[in-house]
Amino acid sequence: MNNVHILDHPLIKHKISLLRDKNTGTNEFRKLTDEVAMLMGYEAFRDLPLEDIRIETPIEPCMSPILAGRKPAIIPILRAGLGMVSGLLALLPAAKVGHIGLYRDELTHLPQQYYCKLPQPIADRPIIVTDPMLATGGSAIDAISKIKNEGGSNIKFMAIIAAPEGLKALSEAHPDIEIYIGQLDRELNDDAYICPGLGDAGDRIFGTK
Ligand code: PRP
Ligand code: URA
Repeated sequence: MNNVHILDHPLIKHKISLLRDKNTGTNEFRKLTDEVAMLMGYEAFRDLPLEDIRIETPIEPCMSPILAGRKPAIIPILRAGLGMVSGLLALLPAAKVGHIGLYRDELTHLPQQYYCKLPQPIADRPIIVTDPMLATGGSAIDAISKIKNEGGSNIKFMAIIAAPEGLKALSEAHPDIEIYIGQLDRELNDDAYICPGLGDAGDRIFGTK
């Protein structure tokens, strides 16, 4: 059974409302996406492993904790997931970054993969997959299947806005992963867009249409 975290921090809620506003332009949208990702990352990285090392402070030697184990991997689902990477790298500058390219077919809404490059080795690395939107769940499900096929196992998924349909589908397809959501919205419309959502995240981040 999944651990699903619907985040309730007021700064996350406030910034998501600004993201939703159709009058928020590209520059502001990009900044807000990064800021929300950073705030969500603070929660998602809460259980990173630590080990004690010996440090000499100006006063005396002491044992003090630093991050342990393989460096985490941040894996954005292209394109829109890219908008969350720099916010997470601000928290974890040493993280590796992989990329999975998927786009939704406009008619079937099914994900089509066009690119995959993951940090090697991927096994034993904490992995966080980013995408601002979890709609039908098809893209997240395929991306995580691909990562598992390459040997990844310690996987978290982070979306700024999710539809109940996508959250259910992702939970059923990958019951072992942890899921972090900034806001759970009402439903999908007939075009598989999230309502009320924020529109097309990739277009809003990159200024395309
Ligand atoms: C969007 C979004 C997700 C996907 C979510 O990407 O960024 O990747 O749709 O939908 P799903 O849960 O129904 O799969 P899109 O395919 O529009 O590509 P883009 O990021 O390149 O714009
Ligand atoms: N992809 C988006 O960017 N927005 C949605 O609402 C659904 C899928």
